[in-house]
Amino acid sequence: MIVKSLTLKNFRNHSYLNYDFQKGINVIEGPNGVGKTNIVEAIYYLSLARSFRLNEDEGLIQKGKSKAEIEADVEQGGIKRKIRVVIGKEGKQVYFYNKPISRLSELAKITNVILFEPKDVMLFRGSPKARRNFLDISLAKHSAPYLDYISRYNKVLKERNELLKQNKIDENLLSTVTEMLVKLSGPIVSYRQMYVKDINDILIKITRALTGVHEKVEVIYKPFVPFDENFNEAALEAFKKVEESDIRHKATSTGVHREDFTVYLNDKEIGEYGSQGENRIVALALKLAPYFLIEDKDKRPIVVLDDVMSELDQAHRQRLLEFLKKFEQVFITATRLDISEATHYKLKKKEKEVF
Ligand SMILES: Nc1ncnc2c1ncn2[C@@H]1O[C@H](COP(=O)(O)OP(=O)(O)O)[C@@H](O)[C@H]1O
Ligand SMILES: [Mg+2]
Repeated sequence: MIVKSLTLKNFRNHSYLNYDFQKGINVIEGPNGVGKTNIVEAIYYLSLARSFRLNEDEGLIQKGKSKAEIEADVEQGGIKRKIRVVIGKEGKQVYFYNKPISRLSELAKITNVILFEPKDVMLFRGSPKARRNFLDISLAKHSAPYLDYISRYNKVLKERNELLKQNKIDENLLSTVTEMLVKLSGPIVSYRQMYVKDINDILIKITRALTGVHEKVEVIYKPFVPFDENFNEAALEAFKKVEESDIRHKATSTGVHREDFTVYLNDKEIGEYGSQGENRIVALALKLAPYFLIEDKDKRPIVVLDDVMSELDQAHRQRLLEFLKKFEQVFITATRLDISEATHYKLKKKEKEVF
């Protein structure tokens, strides 16, 4: 899919901006602080109805204004679609052809954006949350049922945690809620196991293309209980084992919401032993991998690389640029990037108002 055009109104520093974008590589250039990341943030917003930089939407609204708007024409397999998002202080509303969308999961079916930003170099070194997010977001975009399982799981998990916070715990209710969690966990673990297997096949190829050498790279996913025919029993047992301590700590300490994966480069844990450069390239390769796993070519995501080029040496930059030709549409932000075969958009610093 591609974004054909984008209009921003009162979105961050952009009072009004309107761009027509092209297939292939789009380079958004300009000095620091001019609003490059803000543009790709708006593009990313179309995919998940949230920012990758903020938890609260309010910061997206231009200071002093009451609402921000993003309008985009997105093309998928020759079919043009109009998406409009209005972000107000009390909440957001997404419109699809001027019709309000009630569930944000519907948006997940319309637009998909892969993002790589400088802080992703920490993907294998930071907390498991970022890795789980990667897995959950890409799997949800890959398989709609997964999104449904995860949302239901999170609701039941919340109920269980509420229950654990009560002074007098209803044992029967706790068992029922735990059983519900187990039922939802099976498919989630199974999806994750299969997906990681598919990721591994493609990850090795992407890493090779980006580094120019054949390296062994592998994602190892550690489910809290492996998915097989004994899953439900084993999972119930796992919850039972920590029940007492869960009651004491008033939270659920095991389950898919606590899982993690580890990446090995040439049999060494990359987060621990890899160089900064290796971490960056493998994190980039991993983030790009989901693109190739989406079978319907028209539904393949838009790729956004925010401020990544300047961090790479010349050889890696060349290889990456070559590799980017595989994607239908790519956005790159940079202070300066002279590449042919790309459309360039130059943002200029506004003259400061003189009082
Ligand atoms: N809600 C907002 N209202 C007005 N300006 C904002 C808002 N949020 C961020 N900005 C401004 O946006 C600019 C940063 O934009 P950004 O896209 O991060 O720049 P860069 O081009 O370096 O990627 C800063 O000048 C910041 O003050
Ligand atoms: Mg930026």
